[in-house]
Amino acid sequence: MRIEKTKESMMAFLEEKRGKGTIGFVPTMGALHEGHLSLVRRSVKENDCTVVSVFVNPTQFNNPEDLKTYPRTLDADVELLKGTGCDLVFAPSVEEMYPEPDQRTFDFGDLETVMEGAMRPGHFNGVGQVVSRLFDYVRPDRAYFGMKDFQQVAVIKKLVELLNMNVEIVSCDIIREKDGLAKSSRNLLLTAEHREIAPLIHQAMKQAVAEHQTQTVKETIQKTIDVINESPLLEVEYFSIVNDRTLQPIEKWEEAMSPVGCIAVQAGEVRLIDNIVFK
Ligand code: PAJ
Repeated sequence: MRIEKTKESMMAFLEEKRGKGTIGFVPTMGALHEGHLSLVRRSVKENDCTVVSVFVNPTQFNNPEDLKTYPRTLDADVELLKGTGCDLVFAPSVEEMYPEPDQRTFDFGDLETVMEGAMRPGHFNGVGQVVSRLFDYVRPDRAYFGMKDFQQVAVIKKLVELLNMNVEIVSCDIIREKDGLAKSSRNLLLTAEHREIAPLIHQAMKQAVAEHQTQTVKETIQKTIDVINESPLLEVEYFSIVNDRTLQPIEKWEEAMSPVGCIAVQAGEVRLIDNIVFK
């Protein structure tokens, strides 16, 4: 497995692979866990060459403290990737990725006016900046994203459409801890107390799915928020039930084929997100 820190060396390595088979790409911000590794394994299975990027992208952080405390564990990440069949790790510095500030703004339409887009202004624009740059350098046939970040998948599909890029976006299932908490690099930052109560988020959402046919959308939302907020350690920022395509909130269950419940919860200093499909 090669580890490259510059665009030139990374692209030179890939030039030898290109044309001999497909290139799969998994962009990450590191602090890798089973969620990330499931994407990498899927790419390894479906492609001849797999590239993983590890880069904590400053332009997508709207909170400087979050950027500062975001876990950075490159050595451990490399060790984990060695067991997956990944061919190349691209781990650039901020200067390497942004020799000059990126001034571009993308118009993701209504996809970015709701949920994470509304709560974290500029976040998806920063994601668009870094992913479009990475796509330009790697030029993958397929790129793998987790449904953990449901809204991000929709935004990336839109980005590919806006820039007319020739890459297939593959969305992958959410990987959870045994107790149901969605795996996340930010889980490392939870206190022991918050870690213990955090599975309540997924439990409450599973309960919402189980009961939803006898309740209105509004009742389902309120009940789920109440169950979680009953814990003094958790505070729901939003719980929205949205149309899986438009990401706009629905009022009646019939308004979507598979409505998705999306949640953000503050657990002490840590902000957690998760989602569930209503089937
Ligand atoms: P990061 O949070 O490191 O996540 C990288 C990829 O792993 C994303 O596609 C994310 O959805 C996926 N992932 C994270 N936890 C997961 C889980 N529990 N189950 C399944 N997939 C999971 O998302 C980003 O980085 C960045 O925004 C990035 C796209 C790299 C741009 O900087």
